[in-house]
Amino acid sequence: MALTYKDTDPVRLSEDRKSIIILDQTKLPGEVVYQSIDTLDGMYDAIKTLAVRGAPCIGVFAGYCMAVLASGYCGLDTEDFVKKLEADGEYLNSSRPTAVNLSWAVKRQLGIMDSGMKSGISPERITDRLFDEAAAIHEEDIRMCMKIAEQGLSLLKDGDGLLTHCNAGALATTRYGTGLGPILLGRERGYNFHVYSDETRPLLQGARLTAFELVNAGVDETVVCDNMASLLMKQGKIQAVLVGCDRIAANGDAANKIGTSGVAIIARYYGIPFYVLGPYSTIDLDTPKGDDIVIETRDPEEIGSLWYEKPMAPRGAKFYNPAFDVTDHSLITAIITDRGILRPPYDKAIAGAMIGKKRGRK
Ligand code: MRU
Repeated sequence: MALTYKDTDPVRLSEDRKSIIILDQTKLPGEVVYQSIDTLDGMYDAIKTLAVRGAPCIGVFAGYCMAVLASGYCGLDTEDFVKKLEADGEYLNSSRPTAVNLSWAVKRQLGIMDSGMKSGISPERITDRLFDEAAAIHEEDIRMCMKIAEQGLSLLKDGDGLLTHCNAGALATTRYGTGLGPILLGRERGYNFHVYSDETRPLLQGARLTAFELVNAGVDETVVCDNMASLLMKQGKIQAVLVGCDRIAANGDAANKIGTSGVAIIARYYGIPFYVLGPYSTIDLDTPKGDDIVIETRDPEEIGSLWYEKPMAPRGAKFYNPAFDVTDHSLITAIITDRGILRPPYDKAIAGAMIGKKRGRK
């Protein structure tokens, strides 16, 4: 099915506000399957299994989760309502530790709950405000992605060869994406980019999802194995690297899908610009540097057997499956955000861009 980034809705609220409809990304590109999620465990599993994935998209989903969960607690007295929602937020946060957008959205919703409590309104009215805030987070994400796409496109030229890693497109956000935003916007404006997508072992977000989005958008798209970046760059096929991010520390170190830092190191060797693209909600001022970012470790079976008819490694072999790595800020040419294109020194640039942008609980 030719789903394009303009009609991709990876996450949306149902009409009756009782559930969240998600596009199950584990089934792509073969099947376009939507699921309705209305329980805490269903929400946790959707994030954990990557049915909903990509840092900004997880944030939007979490905003709706908090509102839907709150609506189930409206019959409780205010104290129990608060306790339930706090516990649910903590549980959702534990599903995936690296992408800050999850805890950012939960915190933002708990801030709405706190201010509702302070003004003495009922759990029903607090819940209405949580639904409004979830919609605001969603709309804000779309606006931020548009801005990021515009800023990123200003750095590219028609005919450029571009390399991307993982999936930072409309599936990972709610429109255009971050890393893919300039490519999709450029395509609309008649640019002809040649895009190489790392397949992105072990979960193949590049081969399955980035290729799906780019092919459907009519972009010239080539999937390559993760170990081919160096050769492509040496051959002069790549003029810039564009990647998304899951958490940017205050000093500019950026966590993204495992393998990203290796691409950055190779790009530096060949003198190719390496751009990290993300909304302000991915910047975490409470994390001073990359070493402070918790890296999610996932099920070894994702390496050992998930994509194979029979295991490719001998019985007894061990697997280590960290899902993210951190690219040192010294390797990043620019961080492209909805608040502008940030350049080194990143600590100062980030602090300036984030003035007045802390939201949610103190
Ligand atoms: O494990 P995933 O698929 O959620 O990892 C996603 C990425 O690493 C993306 O590059 C990142 O979340 C940015 S998405 C705009």
